Amino acid sequence: MPDSARATRAPAAADAVSSRPDGGAAPSDAITAVGLTKRYGDFTAVDGIDFSVARGESFGLLGPNGAGKSTTMRMIAAVASRTAGELSVAGLDPEKQGPEVRARLGVIPQQDNLDEELTVRENIIMYGRYFGLPRRWLLGKAEELLEFAQLTQKAKARVEDLSGGMKRRLTIARALVNEPDVLLLDEPTTGLDPQARHVLWDRLFRLKETGTTLVLTTHHMDEAEQLCDRLIVVDHGRIMAEGSPSGLIREHSTREVLELRFGMDRNAEQAEELTGVLTPGDAGFDRIEVLPDRLLVYAERAEEALEQVHAAGHRPVTSLVRRSSLEDVFLRLTGRSLID
Ligand SMILES: Nc1ncnc2c1ncn2[C@@H]1O[C@H](COP(=O)(O)OP(=O)(O)O)[C@@H](O)[C@H]1O
Ligand SMILES: [Mg+2]
Repeated sequence: MPDSARATRAPAAADAVSSRPDGGAAPSDAITAVGLTKRYGDFTAVDGIDFSVARGESFGLLGPNGAGKSTTMRMIAAVASRTAGELSVAGLDPEKQGPEVRARLGVIPQQDNLDEELTVRENIIMYGRYFGLPRRWLLGKAEELLEFAQLTQKAKARVEDLSGGMKRRLTIARALVNEPDVLLLDEPTTGLDPQARHVLWDRLFRLKETGTTLVLTTHHMDEAEQLCDRLIVVDHGRIMAEGSPSGLIREHSTREVLELRFGMDRNAEQAEELTGVLTPGDAGFDRIEVLPDRLLVYAERAEEALEQVHAAGHRPVTSLVRRSSLEDVFLRLTGRSLID
């Protein structure tokens, strides 16, 4: 990083990276963001976030629609400028070294932008041509990537004839053509059916195992739990929490949850009564959340909590004991459900 850029860095930001004498990303970091901010006019889409992604890590941005996930990805991908803060991708500044950054990244945007007119194979080859890769080399590379994306049989098909899952896999194959260090995936499986999602997760898991750094956004907590080593929970452009999926659940939720349904009009009223029945300490009880259709009783031992509910004479229509998930973490942190 040039000295001029260091000199303008805010003191707090400088402290955050003080272990790095050059002020840039440590070699082990694929991405470092300090105070990263994006404003559109008066509106702040990304509000001064700090995070770093280590090489080989699978890192997630989990948050609801409008949280600022795509905006963050677009700044990393050197397709959107930032309003303030520092951003380093593979040790480079996306704003000043856009082409170099793009050459090291594979980008899967939220909306597929495949060329519908071309065949599956041609989509990969044409994309490689944008990077100036030789056609002869690309012919071999395309076969390898088609194999990886399980699209060999579809090589000559036109994009418009592919299913949603196949299109997504082709977008991933295409993004790998320049053998990127870091793959950015913006909502890789949103809109896909469960089977197509699992096929995609399997492919992403393979990439992760071969050492590719993955940065993905999602509003599916199960996706984050499956794929991310570490994640940030984002809401309204801010980081609400950071950690591994299991670490976040340990830190922000109880081990288990008891879901109770008393019927639409009775849930809120029952919640008040149950607060008297379940006291802190009992069954590791923590709190009750009232959702429109059910109550969530947070307790370390939810079976015991259910026994206490029954013993006090309460008769829920249905009851379910489950483990806490990232959805519960999000609810705890924001007071809202992740998908509303
Ligand atoms: N080009 C733009 N101009 C104005 N507002 C935008 C623009 N792009 C995104 N936004 C706003 O910024 C916020 C964050 O958007 P986005 O990053 O797409 O969120 P996410 O990907 O988490 O759903 C949203 O409120 C969105 O409407
Ligand atoms: Mg988005």
